[in-house]
Parts: sequence; C-alpha cells; structure tokens
Amino acid sequence: MALLFSPLELRGQRLKNRLPMSPMCQYSATEGGEVTDWHLLHYPTRALGGVGLVLVEATAVLPEGRISPFDLGIWSEDHLPGLRELARRIGEAGAVPGIQLAHAGRKAGTARPWEGGGPLGWRVVGPSPIPFAEGYPVPEPLDEGGMARVLEAFVEGAKRALRAGFRVIELHMAHGYLLSSFLSPLSNRREDRYGGSLEGRMRFPLEVAEAVRRALPEEVPLLVRVSATDWAEGGWGLEDTLAFAERLKALGVDLLDLSSGGVVPGVKVPVAPGFQVPFADAVRKRVGLKTGAVGLITAPEQAESILQTGSADLVLLGRVLLREPYWPHRAASALGLKPGVPPQYQRAF
Ligand SMILES: Cc1cc2nc3c(=O)[nH]c(=O)nc-3n(C[C@H](O)[C@H](O)[C@H](O)COP(=O)(O)O)c2cc1C
Repeated sequence: MALLFSPLELRGQRLKNRLPMSPMCQYSATEGGEVTDWHLLHYPTRALGGVGLVLVEATAVLPEGRISPFDLGIWSEDHLPGLRELARRIGEAGAVPGIQLAHAGRKAGTARPWEGGGPLGWRVVGPSPIPFAEGYPVPEPLDEGGMARVLEAFVEGAKRALRAGFRVIELHMAHGYLLSSFLSPLSNRREDRYGGSLEGRMRFPLEVAEAVRRALPEEVPLLVRVSATDWAEGGWGLEDTLAFAERLKALGVDLLDLSSGGVVPGVKVPVAPGFQVPFADAVRKRVGLKTGAVGLITAPEQAESILQTGSADLVLLGRVLLREPYWPHRAASALGLKPGVPPQYQRAF
C-alpha cells in the first residue's frame, strides 16, 4: 500500500498526504516584507500540484531578523492582508497553509543569492560576538532583554500567522540562524545560563518553543526544523539532536523536521540522495517523535520507501518542486494511484 498518499492527522489538522512543500526563501517580498504577486502565484501552484501542506518560506519575526531585505515579514499588522490572501489561496488550491517563522541572527542582512549573497553591513545579533564567516558582521550578543524581545516576536508572529489563516507553524531552528546559533557550541560561547553546557545552549530555543506552543490553540500543530549536525568537529551532532528532540516532544512539539549544516562555513557535507534521512529515522525511532525527512528526495519510490521503513512521517520536497510543481501528481501516478488530481488535470496523469 502506498503510504505517501495516506493522510496524517497532526492535532486538529488533517494533511491529505505525506508530502509537504519544504520552506524555500523566494527573496521576492517588498522591502517592507510584504507578500507580492510572486508569492501569490508560486505557492498556490505547488498546492495545485498536490502537496498536502505548503510551508511558506522563512518569514521574519523582526526586521533585523531577515536573511535579505526581500524576505517575507510578519512583525507588523501591515503584513496581515498579504499573508491572509496567501493562506487563503493555498487552502483554496487544496493544501493546508503552513508557515516557517524565523530570525536570521548573525546571518541576517545579506544580498539576494543572485545579487552575490554577501553581507550588506547590517547590525546583527547572536548568542556571542562571533561572525558567521570572514567579511560578516560581528553580532551583538543578545542580553536577556534582547532575548525576551525576540521571544515575544516569535509569539506575536505565531499569533499573526493564525490570524492570517495559517494552520501549521514551523519554527526555524536550523542552518545557523538565530535559534540554531544558540544550540551550537561553535557559535554560542556564552558564559551565562544560555550557553556552556548542552542544557544551557538549548535553553533559549526551548523557551521560544514553549512560549509559541502556549500561544497556539490546541488544534494547531507546531513543527520545528533543526540542523541535526553541524558536520564540524566540536559542533552540534546527532546525540545533541536526540536530547533536544526529547525536550521538544515533552513541551508539545508535534514533529521535528531534520535538515543539517549551515552553522559554520567551509564544512564537507556528504550530499547524496536522502543523505539526511538517517537523522529523521534516529529521532523517530529513538525518541518517538514524529519526523520529517528532507534533502535530495526526488523519486517517488525513494519517498515511499522512507515511509515504509518507518524513517519519517512526512517527506518534504524542496528544489524538485521548483523544477516540477506537479511532482506529487506524477508520483501518485507512478505508484499506480490517482488521488486528488484536479479534474482539470486528470487527462494529464
Ligand atoms: C531557494 C531555496 C531557499 C530555501 N529557503 C529555506 C528556508 O526559507 N527555510 C528553510 O528551512 N530551508 C530553506 N531551504 C532549504 C530547503 O527547505 C530544503 O531543506 C533543501 O533545499 C533540501 O531539500 P531538496 O533537496 O528537496 O531541495 C531553501 C532551499 C532553497 C533551494
């Protein structure tokens, strides 16, 4: 039996299949962080393509937490009308609308990838005054007041996302952005209670997850994305991820989405089809928390086998959906199924 097209209940939300669209920055918002026509075309198209859940790109909870000046924002009421229209259209096109909430920390303020991607000289914040790489700004270490402001911004962002109509919230704790940089000993050298031991480094991300969970109604699922490993000597690794997953599970996080890397530059990542799946497998089997697998999953049989072997509950699709928005319909057809193909498209699959 094909599991890819079986539904999944997460709290009060029913995903029609196991294929979410992975969050992917489009760097196409207005410089005020507002939704543009690009988003209104891009995301609903993937929803029509058959994904069960659209996770809208890293959306900044504070202006200084944007990766680029063109990131989506959710720090102001001005963002609501655009986000509301986006969530509505994703839902109309057949997917549950979800959104990733983010703060880029010491990696904030860079040019768009196609404009070089380099740092723009913004004032950035982080756990410790260690720049991401040469040429990047030295982050201003957050004091407890600054951390409280960031926590509040995540909570306000989550509430605003709900008011906009999003029904799944994901917290971005991966890729070296602010919350991820608190976790890793390579970017967090604090000597207060938010650094040092694993417990100390986990403290702020856990406080954010707990506060957001508390702000969400019972029926709204909370997902967290982490980097399962820094791929670096002396960095965060899978055992840390397992400990973190235990804690997230205890405070009501519904699913861990397992990516990797991005915390320090210049590391060797063994990129290969499904290379991050073992992380999802380990968390699911050793912690008993639902997981999402992501990274170079491009073939229907490959995606199906990730579920069949119990490695994950969801298979997130990234770049393959940029190339081929209708991948889920093609996958269903390849697996001998035709679930949910809109009647307008049925003769194509
Ligand atoms: C253009 C682009 C933008 C991305 N933006 C985000 C993002 O906003 N948040 C995030 O967690 N990951 C982001 N990612 C990572 C993807 O979500 C995904 O994990 C990664 O591309 C690996 O999956 P894939 O091999 O299916 O593309 C981005 C990737 C790409 C290619």
